[in-house]
Amino acid sequence: MASYEFVDHAYDVVVVGAGGSGLRAALGAAQQGLKVACVTKVFPTRSHTVAAQGGISASLGNMGEDSWQWHMYDTVKGSDWLGDQDAIEYLVREAPKAVYELEHWGVPFSRTEEGKIYQRAFGGMTRNFGEGPVQRTCAAADRTGHAMLHTLYGQSVRREVEFFIEYFALDLIMQDGACTGVTAWKLDDGTLHRFRAKLVILATGGYGRAYFSATSAHTCTGDGNAMVLRAGLPCQDMEFVQFHPTGIYGAGCLITEGARGEGGYLTNSEGERFMERYAPSAKDLASRDVVSRSMTIEIREGRGVGPNKDHIFLHLDHLDPKILHERLPGISESAKIFAGVDVTKQPIPVLPTVHYNMGGIPTNYHGEVLTKRDGNPDAVVPGLMAVGEAACVSVHGANRLGSNSLIDLVVFGRAAGLRAGQIVDKASAVPDAPASATDGHLARFDRFRHASGSTPTAELRIQMQRAMQSDAAVFRTGRTLQEGVDKLRAIDAAGDTIRTTDRGMIWNTDLVETLEYDNLIAQALVTIEGALNREESRGAHAREDFPERDDENWMKHTLAWKRPGEGVVLDDRPVHAYTMTDEIEYIAPKARVY
Ligand code: FUM
Repeated sequence: MASYEFVDHAYDVVVVGAGGSGLRAALGAAQQGLKVACVTKVFPTRSHTVAAQGGISASLGNMGEDSWQWHMYDTVKGSDWLGDQDAIEYLVREAPKAVYELEHWGVPFSRTEEGKIYQRAFGGMTRNFGEGPVQRTCAAADRTGHAMLHTLYGQSVRREVEFFIEYFALDLIMQDGACTGVTAWKLDDGTLHRFRAKLVILATGGYGRAYFSATSAHTCTGDGNAMVLRAGLPCQDMEFVQFHPTGIYGAGCLITEGARGEGGYLTNSEGERFMERYAPSAKDLASRDVVSRSMTIEIREGRGVGPNKDHIFLHLDHLDPKILHERLPGISESAKIFAGVDVTKQPIPVLPTVHYNMGGIPTNYHGEVLTKRDGNPDAVVPGLMAVGEAACVSVHGANRLGSNSLIDLVVFGRAAGLRAGQIVDKASAVPDAPASATDGHLARFDRFRHASGSTPTAELRIQMQRAMQSDAAVFRTGRTLQEGVDKLRAIDAAGDTIRTTDRGMIWNTDLVETLEYDNLIAQALVTIEGALNREESRGAHAREDFPERDDENWMKHTLAWKRPGEGVVLDDRPVHAYTMTDEIEYIAPKARVY
């Protein structure tokens, strides 16, 4: 092995990732007077939050009556009762405060005539416990994530968060079951860095790029989830992968659900508004799992559009062009560029596309990472937190409602910052780490840097992405999942034959992609093995061989470890069937009616 040296750093808190949750956690910890570093593989304002379009949910009630209790009911129902109700209560109660905080920090929200924050309808968001749609999603046109990310970055700089930009995080420094830092590779000069810390907060986003077609950026490789798996800790509920109904056909770019919130609708080859059949009440604004399944059935039954009848049309051409210009300028541009469509005249060709990972690193609602230890399913891992899409709090359960992600980022980013203030002792020394704690990080890095096998990374990556796309799809069966498991195990094993060609340390994108692939394949495996194991249909996990939700046997979170020599090991932990306060009762499972 080549010899490597670390540049050493010491902080109270190190946040990995600079999207909405990472920035909110970093600035929150800095607000507590802590010395905070933020380590990020891309420039902060290029993090994937920038691509979030439609908005952020909060029961402000600016466009009609609303309440946190209604928001809670919708989120529990949307989660298909897999969400932890204490965490959901925390989310929806804190949501209005978190949105007003963003407003006061400078997020340029769209406005109503009276100057209030504009709110639009989104799928699954209802008034009076399911009676009819409510406008709950606060929007900055269709560039809400962009507006939030720039504001949060400015506020973090103001709070003197120290940024380490274009640093690729390698692994967690673990000692006696506690996290004491993280190692990283600085891409532009090739140096390696050891960030010692009293607390590490992972805000590394989802792993959409395990699939062939995703709305996620190429950088969405779930690096934090994979670091957690390598540290011997579990990920949770990874089988629940959300397909957004309206990715642009062929390109995968997102067309916001806000398009349907503003009055857009879907049609099949017969020009039929088919959602009226599947969800007579919510129609095109049913939750995403329902709409994606309905579209897939239409295509499978021969009613898709286009020469190959393999997609669906989204119509906005009946809407006032002034509304499109004011509220949906971004997707109007995307439709032109990526589908060659003028949305004022033509429908947009769309297809369900991988969009969000409900699963991730298990945490409580303070952001503290959990594991199952000595029979305790809620054992806290000292020194480690996770927030945002990387985390599984779990507020989204088996299916996330649109616009509940941006609010999750800021509510739980803020919660993590507050908790950091409570548990990090400013006066104590930052823990040291012996070389033995990071030897494995260097060995893995060096192995891939000098990998001289027969299979280029790109070949393994495309095999993995195609297997996930075809075998862990909108609809799944035991047979397709087993085929997927077999393929992915073989692809994982072929990692021994991987080949990189660039041996350098500076801007070595070959090595970056290989490390990312290694992160992705671990997550792909726990995803598909968890999906094969879960013999029921719930939320985004639709098993054709087990079409019913089975609360008796499966009302539980999946925990998945990936152990060297053993492969994926599965266990479970109970869903929190209790709320946070006695101001709302536990919402008991019901059959879903749309
Ligand atoms: O459709 C959208 O604008 C996406 C929102 C979300 O995933 O929350």
